[in-house]
Amino acid sequence: MIKTVNEVSPLIGTNPDSGAVQTVPFPGHTSVPEPEPRLLSAVVAGTGFDVPERILTNADLEQLVATSDAWITERTGMKERRIAAPDQAASDFALRASQRALADAGISAEEVDLIVVATVTGDMPFPSTSCILQHRLGATRAAAMDVAAGCSGFIYALATARQFIATGAYKTVLVVGVEVLSKITDWTDRGTCVLLADGAGAAVLRASADRDRGVVASYLGADGSRGDDLFMPAGGSRIPASVESVQQRLHFLKMNGNAIFKVAVRRMAESVNRVLRAARLKAEDIKLLIPHQANLRIIEATAKLLGFPMERVFVNIQKYANTSSATTIIALDEARRAGRVLAGDVVVLVAFGAGLTWGGVAIRW
Ligand code: ACO
Repeated sequence: MIKTVNEVSPLIGTNPDSGAVQTVPFPGHTSVPEPEPRLLSAVVAGTGFDVPERILTNADLEQLVATSDAWITERTGMKERRIAAPDQAASDFALRASQRALADAGISAEEVDLIVVATVTGDMPFPSTSCILQHRLGATRAAAMDVAAGCSGFIYALATARQFIATGAYKTVLVVGVEVLSKITDWTDRGTCVLLADGAGAAVLRASADRDRGVVASYLGADGSRGDDLFMPAGGSRIPASVESVQQRLHFLKMNGNAIFKVAVRRMAESVNRVLRAARLKAEDIKLLIPHQANLRIIEATAKLLGFPMERVFVNIQKYANTSSATTIIALDEARRAGRVLAGDVVVLVAFGAGLTWGGVAIRW
């Protein structure tokens, strides 16, 4: 018998405010309706990550620019970061992270229906890094696409993958966040070079009829008017590569760190509140909050604004610094392997980045 919409999606038509928690007001930019229709669940069946072998410490950075271990530690929480070798590119790390996630899920690459890779530092402008990964992984049945949303990339990719599963279009989706930021870092700019790093994380999503598990809500936001606060000016069709663009150092990441700091805190807090409301959950229901690892002070300020205890916030920024779209999925894999995510637990991933973009997802394990 065919079910009615409300039998399939019991949340449709209910009061979105009934599960509301402390709300951080901020206008506009809602791209996901609340409450959300839920068809099939997208369950996280496996996770994995990979980072380069080379460790760059704060002491190493003292040799490159006018900085100090004390300044970096105090202002960012970072102690060391991983940096790719000259011949390594995004798909190298994405491949190993994906292989680990597939092994964790206990499935083969041939079972993957779709690959979504979040990156702004892919192997090359095209073909997409997801297509390169599809070939190297042997995921011969999979469609493949990249998502560019800066540091919010993994959240955007996960929300995208979830839609394909919810509608029944695909059963198995591999979602990857990968960056090799060291290749677009200006190693003479102390304002950015101490922050950025390389790495990849991957998650296998599978369709399930169990609506109590999996991604239970997502929220995405953007404000394109603030694009100039964090961008790489050259290398696209606006300023193609030329001798002048290289001489003017336009192929490096530029950031207005102070301006981003303030918006990041507000938008990440807003994103957490919105996914909680969409999932009809309260802050107390969150077992672990996994924020984008851009700056420990941003993480602490976000937790404070939410009234959320730091004991339930996952932080690994001291080891890996800011790997942009890879931070939340690397952290999720580490948290799982450390036994901090158990069956029935609710985990919220939240991020903020270039675009500007921001967003969150709530996952029940
Ligand atoms: N070492 C020593 N001094 C430094 C360094 C450094 N590495 N960097 C900046 N300074 C100096 C500045 O020049 C300034 O000196 P001045 O007072 O003489 O002018 C002083 O430190 C204070 O600078 P601020 O920029 O005010 O320092 P702040 O405390 O804001 O920290 C930071 C800067 C770490 C960049 C912070 O603003 C931040 O984290 N912003 C958000 C970054 C972010 O989230 N980006 C988004 C993600 S990145 C991505 O998408 C790839």
